[in-house]
Amino acid sequence: MDTNWRPEYSVGIDDVDDQHKHLLRLLARVGTLTSTGKGGSALSKLMAELQDYAAFHFSSEEHLMKSVALPTSHVQLHLAAHGQYWRSVADFQARLQAGDASVGLALHAFLQSWWLNHICELDRELGQLMLAAPSLG
Ligand SMILES: [Fe+2]
Repeated sequence: MDTNWRPEYSVGIDDVDDQHKHLLRLLARVGTLTSTGKGGSALSKLMAELQDYAAFHFSSEEHLMKSVALPTSHVQLHLAAHGQYWRSVADFQARLQAGDASVGLALHAFLQSWWLNHICELDRELGQLMLAAPSLG
C-alpha cells in the first residue's frame, strides 16, 4: 500500500474520497521531507497543516455519521479510532519538539500505516453502512 491514490481506497462518498486524496498528498510531502533528512521547522509546519486538515476531516466524517442511523458499534469504534489518532501523533510531536532526530521516519511510517489502514477498514465500512442506511433527514 502506498500514498498514491488507488481505486480500492474509495469509500464510495465523493467528498470523503476527495478529503482522503488531500490527506494522502500531505502524507507524501511528509515522506519527502523525512526521507531527505529534513526535519525541524519544515516538518513541524507541515505537521501543523496535516493536523489542521485531519481535524476538519474527522469532524466532517463525524457530522456525516450523525446524518444516518448507523450501528452503535461502528460509531463507537470509529470515534475511538479518531481519538486514538490524536494521542499517537501527540506522542510523536513531543519527541519531535524534544529534538529527537530519529522521529521523522518513524512518524511517517506511523502516519502512512494509520491512514491507509483507517481508510481501507473503518472508513470503507462507514461508506458501505452510509449507503445502506436510512436517512435521518
Ligand atoms: Fe474515519
